[in-house]
Amino acid sequence: MKYAIVSDIHGNYPALQLVIEDALKCGAKEFLFMGDYCVSAPWPAEVWETLHSMKNARIICGNEEQYLRVPEGEDGQFEISRWCKNALSQEQRDWFFGLPNRMDLHCEGWDIHMCHSSEEFIGNAETGHYNVTWLRENHPEERVKREVLLREICMGLRSNEDFSEILGALPKGIYIFGHTHIQWHMQLENHIFINPGSCGLPLDGGECGAPYTLLTIEEGQIEVEERRVVYDMHELIGRVKSSDQYTKAKVWSEVIFREWLTVKDKMLLFLRFVEQYARGIEDTRRPFAKDTWEAAYMEWRKKNELISAQGTIL
Ligand SMILES: [Fe+2]
Repeated sequence: MKYAIVSDIHGNYPALQLVIEDALKCGAKEFLFMGDYCVSAPWPAEVWETLHSMKNARIICGNEEQYLRVPEGEDGQFEISRWCKNALSQEQRDWFFGLPNRMDLHCEGWDIHMCHSSEEFIGNAETGHYNVTWLRENHPEERVKREVLLREICMGLRSNEDFSEILGALPKGIYIFGHTHIQWHMQLENHIFINPGSCGLPLDGGECGAPYTLLTIEEGQIEVEERRVVYDMHELIGRVKSSDQYTKAKVWSEVIFREWLTVKDKMLLFLRFVEQYARGIEDTRRPFAKDTWEAAYMEWRKKNELISAQGTIL
């Protein structure tokens, strides 16, 4: 059996199409979708349509689906979630809300466990250490080499005493998750861990494109192949600029553009900046009000343009 593992699409339907096409060419027979289908790119309904009609797919929910429950309001911070909610019908939203948190499969003697976050299986061994903040602090270089990243994560986990203890109590199996938007995998004798990265919004400092992972189980043997379909991010950004999302949630969309181009987190940095900015003008309104949200973005952009003028891509 060959599975294609796809996570964190975040409304990026063009990336999803490319990944499905590539996986089918590679002989994938089943698709495992690991959550976070909306918010950030403007095609949540198309993503729903594709997933909903796939016969050979196992689908669990992520954390981003909860933002589809955002109440009406006038703030700037949640205008992206509100746009996304309104881009989906009640039936489509209910379908996302009804997805299970976990799924377990069995294939040729291997138990396969799926959950959006690895915390369900290994506590914070991954999420607390090998997250986008870690990547930013340890890899300020423009592009991060895949083999370097994989080595650091795998060696870091192996030398972590807490992780060794967790492994001792964890049943043999294949554990699949997403959530961090960083693609990696590790094969040990009795445990295999796979994070396919984010198909729609990768933040692992690698090449621009759509990552996903193939898992092949044949005669009890396992093969894991990380793949990344490279495509033109500027073309994608052009398409988003002509969407209704861009008109209604411009700030969020533009921060996402920077993430697509750099393949690194900018949103957490921006949210931290808005918090500082709001405190500076003694604005205690949360979620961030539209005027503060937009003014903070203008400041942040100016500051980034100054830095990028010195040769750093932001
Ligand atoms: Fe995500």
